[in-house]
Amino acid sequence: MSKRYDKPIPFGWYAIEYCEQLKVGEVKPLSYFGKELVLFRSETGEAALLDAYCPHLGAHLGHGGIVQGESISCPFHAWKFDGNGMCTNIPYAKRMPPKVDGKQVVGNYPVVERNQMIWAWYHPQGDEPSFEVEVVEELQSEQWTAIDTFDWKINTITQETGENAADIAHFVTVHSAVEMPNGKVTLEGHRRCTLMDSESAAIDEQGTVDRSGDTTDSVRLESWNIGPGQTIQRFSRMFDIIMLGTITPIDDQSIHLRFIFTLPKEQSEMNKLFTHGVRDEIVHQVEQDIPIWENKVYLESPILCDGDGPIAKYRKWFQQFYVS
Ligand code: FES
Ligand SMILES: [Fe+2]
Repeated sequence: MSKRYDKPIPFGWYAIEYCEQLKVGEVKPLSYFGKELVLFRSETGEAALLDAYCPHLGAHLGHGGIVQGESISCPFHAWKFDGNGMCTNIPYAKRMPPKVDGKQVVGNYPVVERNQMIWAWYHPQGDEPSFEVEVVEELQSEQWTAIDTFDWKINTITQETGENAADIAHFVTVHSAVEMPNGKVTLEGHRRCTLMDSESAAIDEQGTVDRSGDTTDSVRLESWNIGPGQTIQRFSRMFDIIMLGTITPIDDQSIHLRFIFTLPKEQSEMNKLFTHGVRDEIVHQVEQDIPIWENKVYLESPILCDGDGPIAKYRKWFQQFYVS
């Protein structure tokens, strides 16, 4: 069967784990970017991501590998590799083979920890990062709540989930929005902002969403795409919510989507109910999108109409993350 999506994995920063979920000395096997990978945290606390297979005889470093100092030790014959993919020790060899000595022998990925997440830079040709993961101040602030997290593995590609925000008409059909959100798009290199002022279904004191459309409230949403893998949504006016959305390619046909929410600690009981209601509604909305994403095809030349929103602009902007 031919592939549903015929696009390469775009380059960029991708969230691969919550910082909290990788303790000192911990080792995890991961599958992202169409590869088997190993993530570990060294004894000094540095997170590192390597290709999983040991160059000696092919063992998976993420299944039984152990952290020793700054290196991971292979479960098969205990060769050790540091976060740069250099072999640091072969316990039973009198001297390092020339192929190994002073050379990188395992593929590695630049890693940063930001916004309570571990991010890896993926580039199909191994190019260095050309932009940064954007800091979300609220995620390091004492004034905002501990994060609430949600995640999904979905049969779709990074470009398609991002297109959702530009696809204005679907908010009415799929998400029961009262009217089409009025978005103003600004493009700045790898960053893209959509400012939306909308009337949303009202939420009562119990946090129940009125889906009838009889009562509404005004909501401002500033939605940022930072490269293909990071989105930041800032809700304001009626209430404040910050959502970090991360999209990580599992391979060229599927993604791992995560939503991370933080809310102001200081807010009225009424607003607390309200913000919880909105958070649940956002999660509900993605679950409304999933069956569409999982069954649709990508049309290179769709037939669009004047009310469709900036879909073509979004597609053009996204092209910058593909190298063919
Ligand atoms: S396979 Fe890893 S040390 Fe031999
Ligand atoms: Fe949607």
